[in-house]
Amino acid sequence: MEIPFLSLKSTNKPFEDSLKIALTDFLSSGQYMLGKSVANFEKNFAKYCQTKHCIGVANGLDALILILNSFEFKKNAEVIVPANTYFASILAIIKAGLKPILVEPNLEDYLINTDNIKKAISKETVAVMAVNLYGRMCDYKKINEICQENKLKLIVDSAQSHGAEYQDSKDCFGADAIAYSFYPTKNLGALADAGAVVTGDEQLAKTIRKNRNYGSEIKYQFDSLGLNSRLSELQACFLDIKLKHLDDEISKRRHIARRYLTEIKNDKLILPPSDRINQDAWHLFVVRTDIRDSLIRFLKEKQIGFDIHYPIPPHKQKALKELNGLDLPITEIIHKTILSLPLNSSLVEDEVDHIILTLNSY
Ligand SMILES: Cc1ncc(COP(=O)(O)O)c(C=O)c1O
Repeated sequence: MEIPFLSLKSTNKPFEDSLKIALTDFLSSGQYMLGKSVANFEKNFAKYCQTKHCIGVANGLDALILILNSFEFKKNAEVIVPANTYFASILAIIKAGLKPILVEPNLEDYLINTDNIKKAISKETVAVMAVNLYGRMCDYKKINEICQENKLKLIVDSAQSHGAEYQDSKDCFGADAIAYSFYPTKNLGALADAGAVVTGDEQLAKTIRKNRNYGSEIKYQFDSLGLNSRLSELQACFLDIKLKHLDDEISKRRHIARRYLTEIKNDKLILPPSDRINQDAWHLFVVRTDIRDSLIRFLKEKQIGFDIHYPIPPHKQKALKELNGLDLPITEIIHKTILSLPLNSSLVEDEVDHIILTLNSY
């Protein structure tokens, strides 16, 4: 049995008929930019995220940049960010003219370590950017306390955690602003690049809404140096259709995660934490092993797809030469030992059985 890591054709199959109808309606509407589909999706996604405002933007990277720019921090002010994240979190801080301060995550859940946040705070710190990596929320009770005590903004990179909850909260305990990506592989994925900012802060929402459109509220009048980062009207139609099924998508993911966590029994594999199966969004199911090369050979032989999120940590990337000398041993252990198993809503029970049996025989 050959099992791909992810087939976007299969995950979009259940929506095919509705997406075709939406495309036909879109074509005949004649309204191709910032029309009623963007407005509808923004209203529905804000409600889904238990907050007041959603601003659709072109992608997740822009969502982060627009948030950071909106605070008008002074140039080179410091933003604390986990060292173990996708490159975009750190790139956004640099593109906003700020300085990323990388801190080590927890080895157990791969998320930013709150004691390390405290240690990294300096006179120059203006914000913490927490990242809900792999679909699991960070410890927002503690992170919010730290931010409030130190008067720091809390920005969340939720590109991987649509629908995740932490202590019944989807809004990260009232973080200042949360950035989403709807890149096609995400739990809520468009059919092209797309993203959003959600926030409970009306003034912040107004600024970001203006700045996604060149800094213009009134046609041909520019109040600030914004971006061209509008959410596509067509992608908003598609996203609105898929949003109605997001909870279903996440419960399928939770079901598979629960099966992996209870049925994979192999001392060579360290499984992710199982304490919040019904709160995590399970964007990725990431195991760790000291013998990754051998596991990769085995999975290839057995035709089971896998991926590595991510093989090179940001501070070792060629593009971030100024960070190459940082000593971040936990981040490096994570990047050397992780491997993502297939976990998506198009997997059928037989395939899940097969993955479990195969891994138990390894
Ligand atoms: C953690 C994280 N942050 C930011 C982004 C950037 O999103 P986009 O690719 O939509 O710009 C991604 C995308 O994969 C991501 O995984």
